[in-house]
Amino acid sequence: MGCYASGRNLWLDGWFSSHQSSPTRHCSIPLQLRKPNARLGSRGRTRCFCQNYREWIFVGSSLGLRYDEGKKQPGPLEFKNVYIDPVAYRVYRQTGMFPEGTVFILETARGEEKKEPDLRGSFQKEFKGLSAAVKDKERFPDGWAYFTFSDGLGKTKPRARPAKKTACYDCHRQKGAEDHVFTQFYPVLRAARPRDTIEGTWLPAAAELGGKAFPDEIRKTIKLVVKDDRYTVTVGKQVDQGTVKLDPAAKPKALDITGTEGPNKGKTIRAIYERDGDTLRVCYDLSGKGRPTEFKTRAGTQLFLVTYRREKP
Ligand code: HEC
Repeated sequence: MGCYASGRNLWLDGWFSSHQSSPTRHCSIPLQLRKPNARLGSRGRTRCFCQNYREWIFVGSSLGLRYDEGKKQPGPLEFKNVYIDPVAYRVYRQTGMFPEGTVFILETARGEEKKEPDLRGSFQKEFKGLSAAVKDKERFPDGWAYFTFSDGLGKTKPRARPAKKTACYDCHRQKGAEDHVFTQFYPVLRAARPRDTIEGTWLPAAAELGGKAFPDEIRKTIKLVVKDDRYTVTVGKQVDQGTVKLDPAAKPKALDITGTEGPNKGKTIRAIYERDGDTLRVCYDLSGKGRPTEFKTRAGTQLFLVTYRREKP
């Protein structure tokens, strides 16, 4: 049964087990949990299905877009349409993060070109394929799982199992701009992303101070938490708290932190920052005298450059 043609239900196998997890936590509104039943089989498992994904939020489309390192011949003209479930969209708009339970649907359509005297351009002809991406770290150890419903020649099967990691996940992890998702190709999500938030929990992956590598054993004890306009930095047991103010219009983007508790109480440190998805780079001038102009440190300065990775929500 071609479920794409009728927008019917898609079943994602192995997503839920009947005794674990509250369905409401994972299943956003458009997904519904079914009790295991004989017809659907598969030993005590329940599955989620995506219903009416064409009523979800449409995030973007592409034409002939693919990574193939120039090896393969270009295939037939193909459009892709991507949808996100509305609950995940709302959370993303507020937090800039995809919540557990996020589902994306990617639908492909054959492209056709018009080269008539009075009609030109490309449009989408019949639908060809269908796949899904699901974020659920309790179910899938890698965090995201990918499903293909395409069943050759425009046919779609109604159920799918998670694909092999090398088939889908690896490329998404390496090339997707944000949390395995290709937001670089989704203008709707880029527009929805909250402006320049650095909210979240950040762990330094690399740091240097005054032209020298910062000792790993200290770096590993550092944690930065930003919530609203407050920051908390813990270094081992020492806690430094205060306010953080962003100026995203500055070039490079500027950030001021003012300590209210702990070693930097009453002190303002000027910094520059740059965020790309789950990576945040900050260069501070710990002397408190000025603001760094580039993401570099030099001997004889108190410039402190840190590359943070966001702890996965
Ligand atoms: C070589 C890279 C690559 C591989 C491998 C790959 N994808 Fe993707 N995927 C993309 C790109 C690029 C996009 C952006 C959408 C587009 O192409 O228009 C995307 C988007 C998606 C989306 C929309 C949500 C998102 O994460 O951005 C889904 C769903 C998806 N792919 C499923 C799959 C499935 C299922 C497989 C494995 C069968 C797979 N992908 C393998 C590159 C890849």
